[in-house]
Amino acid sequence: MLKVFPLSQSSAKPATIYLKDYKEPDFLIKTVDLTVELGEEETIVTSRLELTRNDENATKLSLNGEHLTLQSVKMDGHMLTPDEYNATDEWLHLPVATVTTDFSLEIVTRIKPQENTALEGLYKSNGNFCTQCEAEGFRWITYFLDRPDVMAIYTTTIIGDGELYPVMLSNGNLMQQETLPDGRQSVTWHDPHPKPSYLFALVAGNLAVVEDKFTTRSGRNVKLQIFVEKGNEDKCDHAMTSLKKSMKWDEEKYGREYDLDIFMIVAVSDFNMGAMENKGLNVFNSKYVLASPETATDADFDGIESVIAHEYFHNWTGNRITCRDWFQLTLKEGLTVFRDQQFSADMNSAAVQRIDDVQRLRAAQFPEDGGPLAHPIQPQSYVEINNFYTATVYEKGAEVIRMIHTLLGEEKFRKGMDLYFERHDGQAVTTEEFVSALEDGSGVDLTQFRRWYVTPGTPEIMVDERFDPKTGQYKLTLEQSNLKAGEIFKPLHIPLQMGLLDEKGQAVTFTDGPFKGQTEGVFDFNKKRQSFTFSGLSSQPKASLFRGFSAPVKLRQTMSDDALAFLFAKDQDLFNRWDAGQRLASNIILKNIEAVDEDDTAILPAAFLDAFAEILSDTELDRAFTASALTLPGEQDIAQRMPIVDVDAIHKVRENARQQIGLTFEENWRKLYNECANAPTPANQPESSSRKLKNTALRYLIATGREEYITLAATQFRKSTNMTDSVAALSGLKDITHPVRDEMFADYYEKWQKDALIVDKWFTLQAMSMRESTIADIKKLMEHPAFTLRNPNRLRSLIGAFTSGNPVYFHDKSGEGYRILSGVISAMNKTNPQIAARFVAPLGQWRRYDEDRQALMSAELEKILKLPDLSDHVYEMANKSLH
Ligand code: PHE
Ligand code: ZN
Repeated sequence: MLKVFPLSQSSAKPATIYLKDYKEPDFLIKTVDLTVELGEEETIVTSRLELTRNDENATKLSLNGEHLTLQSVKMDGHMLTPDEYNATDEWLHLPVATVTTDFSLEIVTRIKPQENTALEGLYKSNGNFCTQCEAEGFRWITYFLDRPDVMAIYTTTIIGDGELYPVMLSNGNLMQQETLPDGRQSVTWHDPHPKPSYLFALVAGNLAVVEDKFTTRSGRNVKLQIFVEKGNEDKCDHAMTSLKKSMKWDEEKYGREYDLDIFMIVAVSDFNMGAMENKGLNVFNSKYVLASPETATDADFDGIESVIAHEYFHNWTGNRITCRDWFQLTLKEGLTVFRDQQFSADMNSAAVQRIDDVQRLRAAQFPEDGGPLAHPIQPQSYVEINNFYTATVYEKGAEVIRMIHTLLGEEKFRKGMDLYFERHDGQAVTTEEFVSALEDGSGVDLTQFRRWYVTPGTPEIMVDERFDPKTGQYKLTLEQSNLKAGEIFKPLHIPLQMGLLDEKGQAVTFTDGPFKGQTEGVFDFNKKRQSFTFSGLSSQPKASLFRGFSAPVKLRQTMSDDALAFLFAKDQDLFNRWDAGQRLASNIILKNIEAVDEDDTAILPAAFLDAFAEILSDTELDRAFTASALTLPGEQDIAQRMPIVDVDAIHKVRENARQQIGLTFEENWRKLYNECANAPTPANQPESSSRKLKNTALRYLIATGREEYITLAATQFRKSTNMTDSVAALSGLKDITHPVRDEMFADYYEKWQKDALIVDKWFTLQAMSMRESTIADIKKLMEHPAFTLRNPNRLRSLIGAFTSGNPVYFHDKSGEGYRILSGVISAMNKTNPQIAARFVAPLGQWRRYDEDRQALMSAELEKILKLPDLSDHVYEMANKSLH
């Protein structure tokens, strides 16, 4: 039986940590010499530290340490007796009043990685050792000043059974490899770059390696290695290609070169997050490495490309320049997400990439920013830092960097970034230092812009338009407000990228103002209420506002459906064209929900269908764009526009609209399906865009309800040679009750049961099914031999997909969906508190639902708060969610 990893047990309310309390460390660590002796029973860690005093008045040295068994402490070569130090559950306090400025410590501790289910610190995954130290995992390995502003040079020796663990890796360069007299293998690594402890990594196992190389533009030869479990060697091509593209892109776009002779990636199957940027030794969730067309979807391929890029880009934005403290997390995460989004936009269709990024922001970050867990991208306090790896810090953080980029323009932004790298290389800095460097490098004043860092909530923008036909003047008035900012509301500096369209849909050239002679401009919208006037117009223009989503705001525009349909059909900006279509579709669905008569048939206005038809027949458009433009907004998107969410009505109306669109354009869909399946993809578009459009057509055909399209999907499934088409067929039929559906799911499992990542998809598709039996099916799936709470990917594939991807059944009136979730949270609270805490958020949205559901959801939160041995992680999330 798997033993539960012991967590420190305290019943006191956990302490809150505040940014305003930040103080420089009393001591610094210059070098770390680690020896890690891996064992099956226990692992022994010997840490030799060279320290230096940073505050001459400090009388005590307090090192962080958790879940450690202390064996011995030597100071400057003298063994301390237990009465000379004080070791608690979280600290090792050492007397230092008499030591000189520079001194050394040697600390020996024992740990049990094989019992570590929290996947923090050193743990085992499928028999291999690996580490995860961000944010505060290094203290699970040894006593240390485990904070990012303590940067040291590491030398790491790994000792263990060479048969079980032939591969032994750590950061930096390989120094030595030998067999010890006792037969064990010993491998030593040295990392010349000073780094914070959260970037430390160690891996040991029986792994296969795939190799390649990259020559940097200054001629450094870098060995590239991807380590995977044996049998997966043939699934690394895409990750390797993505890595080389990322290395080249960062040189060209930002002038940043790689700085070691070796870059390693290790794929592990048990991982709490997506991946980790440890210096020279990135550790990845296997989901973001392994892929072949047979086993991974096009979306998986895109995910791998962007996560590989993200972790690689961290080498400069995160590792060379790191965070002073964890309140600065967005310094590295917002910036690196922005950089990976830029990279993906350069590698693929920029408009489609932007649409995907904004969809993700709206789906994950907007609800967070509007709910009880709202926080600024730079939080001011936290209980548990792991709870702040949020969509706000990451995705909204990236939007904030993007706005700086938009305000400065490409050239000045690059100048600012160059100065940032020059000024702060090798340092641990704050977001303030970042903004200052961008300001100084570009010469653009960002004083007011800084408010974005400390303001929670999504700004809402009201729009008022006036056109005077006599003077030919068009006056646009915008007003910003922010519910979450409350009393402290101060107007933000918002870049308004916009253009005007004339009655034919042509771009209007500005005849005055700062963008005279141009058809698009970026205006500074920095007052609460502000007007922008345009003259020389012969008729009322249509405004295309916040092009490319130039600011993370909600537009409360009083634009007519006809105007939206016009922009949907004509806007020059592809992002706004898509967005107009989404807003129009949401309006229509919401109106149908409100319609008093209980008729199940949604009314789709002609203007909407005409615009739809126009896009459907426009063969010039990128097929992937067409697919996005012809897909209705998701149920959760629509939900965000309802004060009290009615999940059933949204589903019913949206499905009915899909059916009507399927039937109205049935012939077009059939034609499109066949073209995409058989005709070659237009040059300059990737094959994946044809699959995306084909499968969009397939879903509309299935929505017609005609039996022949069930057959079409089944045929696609049987003939498919790639995972994208297989999953699309399964997904298209997942909601129906039909023998073909069950057969397909059974065959799929039968065929792929040995591939964990594919079995995850099998769970996900069923978790998102819309059938009367769904809740019962999910309970049955939780008993399935392949289901386990221990593996985060598997847990997310079933429970995560259910709670965030199946609103109708998660919010089932019985409350059963909520109980399933809180059951999982209580089961995970002790074994993996980080993951358990991440599952609390859906319950935190309780205020958005009707009274019965509010009562049911908050009851589960209360139950969670009463759990014995409640972890700090879950406590913080549940407590904030309830109050
Ligand atoms: N720093 C990682 C990334 O964004 C994410 C991560 C955080 C991974 C904490 C593990 C633990 O790339
Ligand atoms: Zn990151």
